[in-house]
Amino acid sequence: MILEVKDLQLDFGGVRAVDGLGFSVGESEIVSVIGPNGAGKTSAFNCASGFYKPTAGSIRLAGEQVAGLRPSAIAARGLARTFQNLRLFGDLSVLDNVRAGTHLWLRQSALDALLHTPRYRRSERESSDEAHKWLDFVGLRGDRAGLARHLPYGEQRRVEIARALARRPKLLLLDEPAAGLNRGEKTELLALIRRIRDLGVAIALIEHDMSLVMEVSERVIVLNFGKEIADGTPEDVRRDPAVIEAYLGRDAADAEIHAARTELAGEGAQHA
Ligand SMILES: Nc1ncnc2c1ncn2[C@@H]1O[C@H](COP(=O)(O)OP(=O)(O)O)[C@@H](O)[C@H]1O
Ligand SMILES: [Mg+2]
Repeated sequence: MILEVKDLQLDFGGVRAVDGLGFSVGESEIVSVIGPNGAGKTSAFNCASGFYKPTAGSIRLAGEQVAGLRPSAIAARGLARTFQNLRLFGDLSVLDNVRAGTHLWLRQSALDALLHTPRYRRSERESSDEAHKWLDFVGLRGDRAGLARHLPYGEQRRVEIARALARRPKLLLLDEPAAGLNRGEKTELLALIRRIRDLGVAIALIEHDMSLVMEVSERVIVLNFGKEIADGTPEDVRRDPAVIEAYLGRDAADAEIHAARTELAGEGAQHA
């Protein structure tokens, strides 16, 4: 197992966002984490990547305990992630955003940098070459010298994945990578996720797009109220009564609101 989470708990004041959660991700495995909004998916990823300090529980990355370590320490041990809300450096070039990922493993001394030694220039070139390689890998079409924030949204998402890959992770966490993508971009994302796995990188993704989840996942983990309620193949999970109930409970409420809105709009139209 590359990631093993046990008895994870995260409290925000009175809110228990993660409540005794356990799950694992195997090496080179593609696992989806799904569940209704507020189920604790992002919170669990934030604990695993060190952005939140868990209240209790164990998180092992490649066998080593990482619960409570800083994000940089966990990244150095082989975990990279992307964010539900993009977090690129908007005022840096596309290339420099990805180069930032390489600095995790690039050995540079401050003195070499200050004196611009040949060793420093060599490592800078290596960083650029690697960044270009990952931008090729994710299929970036836009201008690499331009500012990251000038790229269309779907391209920025690719840059974020390239930056994560430039860290040479063993495990990549993707938080809603398909959000905001059009149909064509989603198809490309599906292929990209598989190519990343073929490099030997394990992938855990949080995703709401069920057709993508069902197509790409080898295993699906379902969260509700901070707990795991199901873990199995896409087919198993699709038929699991507990999963259906977790989603139907919410869908019913959403459908009611939707029906109410439609009715109101219809009345408005009649009066107009
Ligand atoms: N920074 C925070 N401060 C307070 N409560 C939070 C914070 N982040 C998440 N929560 C709460 O934790 C619960 C789980 O949220 P989250 O992990 O974002 O769910 P998901 O990603 O599954 O939609 C929700 O009740 C949410 O309101
Ligand atoms: Mg979330």
